[in-house]
Amino acid sequence: MIIGIDKMASYTPEFALDLTTLALARGDEPEKYTIGIGQNKQAVIPNFEDVVTMGVNAARKILTVADREQIDMVIFATESGIDNSKSAAIYAQRLLGLSSFSRTIELKQACYAGTYGLMQANDYVKAHPDKRVLVIASDIARYGIATPGEVTQGGGAIAMIVSQDPKLLAFNDDSVYMSQDVADFWRPLDRTEAIVDGHLSTDIYKEMFLTLWQRYKQNTNKTLNDFAGFAFHLPYTKMGKKALDQIIDEAHDGQRQRLLANLEASQLFSREVGNLYTGSVYLSLLSLISNSSDLLPGEQLAIFSYGSGAEAELYSVTLQKDFHQYVPADETKAMLAQRHEVTVAEYETMFNAQLHHSYGESQTAANSARKTVQFWGWRDGQRI
Ligand code: CAA
Repeated sequence: MIIGIDKMASYTPEFALDLTTLALARGDEPEKYTIGIGQNKQAVIPNFEDVVTMGVNAARKILTVADREQIDMVIFATESGIDNSKSAAIYAQRLLGLSSFSRTIELKQACYAGTYGLMQANDYVKAHPDKRVLVIASDIARYGIATPGEVTQGGGAIAMIVSQDPKLLAFNDDSVYMSQDVADFWRPLDRTEAIVDGHLSTDIYKEMFLTLWQRYKQNTNKTLNDFAGFAFHLPYTKMGKKALDQIIDEAHDGQRQRLLANLEASQLFSREVGNLYTGSVYLSLLSLISNSSDLLPGEQLAIFSYGSGAEAELYSVTLQKDFHQYVPADETKAMLAQRHEVTVAEYETMFNAQLHHSYGESQTAANSARKTVQFWGWRDGQRI
């Protein structure tokens, strides 16, 4: 039985901050942000959006009437959820009009939980081949105004349907994974911004990738030459390059050029949006299959997922026969191109106005999900 990602879509709010403008406002060289860190823009999250509205706005792009009937489980991965008890998946189930006879659960392990969601969905469909599982990965990455992490903020969501006979990508069931108690990044319950040792987290990310790559090669006998491209968790796009550079010399000349070109393709969307935490690695995957010019059906892509604290997983997928037809490349590019650019002052106002959610507030935000896409706008610095 072939199981994998049948459909996927992304969503990010309609406001963006240009990072050259931010660098100048912070007294930094713009090239540090655009080249050294590798980010051009970041999503700015208005206070009428949260992880539920973003996740729902991503999922509603792919759900058909048949999907709504067949989805048997909603897995919602996030580390910036709106409630410490009730799962975001229950709000999503209602807002998306899914059957009440479905399981709904929220998962947390920093940026890694979306991958665990997909692996659970894979196992579930193996046991129940007629079912479909909706996996949503949605987050807001907040570090604080004028902090070192500010340039790596962002937000948005990815929605994926896992099923038998997928149209996009098949899981190859070759995962290697590891967890290790590390204090690189965490967020105590009373805080909306993470506590982070950014340089330590970069080092742990690189180490875990290298360790898992060696283990993966031993387990599968594959080499770098077996892959058309890599999708990395991208807290900032340079991170993927730092990881891949550790092993790139294992590839032959032409293959090295191809992997590096496809790494750039995988970074394009994240450059414009910033960190999505749980969704980042899947935005990178979407970017790779949307922007690469040389991917062919039957070729394999490697996926490296990392979540601080720290847990990581490396696995591969195979591109399906007509995958090109089903990649939402144009829609994603249009969504990014149509965003409104905000000034640094507007961004700071919006950052400080983000809700610390209570139940009632999240209900309001969740209920406005559909309106967010259809009615809200921004003109002359005013929301309309
Ligand atoms: N032109 C070009 N490059 C320049 C430059 C210029 N004028 N000035 C500086 N640079 C380069 C530096 O040389 C450096 O490059 P290398 O990393 O290749 O050495 C790069 O720009 C960044 O410079 P610094 O290291 O001095 O930057 P910083 O101290 O301000 O910190 C950061 C950068 C660690 C990413 C920080 O933004 C941060 O803490 N971010 C949040 C945490 C994070 O994203 N960690 C990543 C892994 S954790 C993870 O994956 C989980 C998760 O999602 C959080």
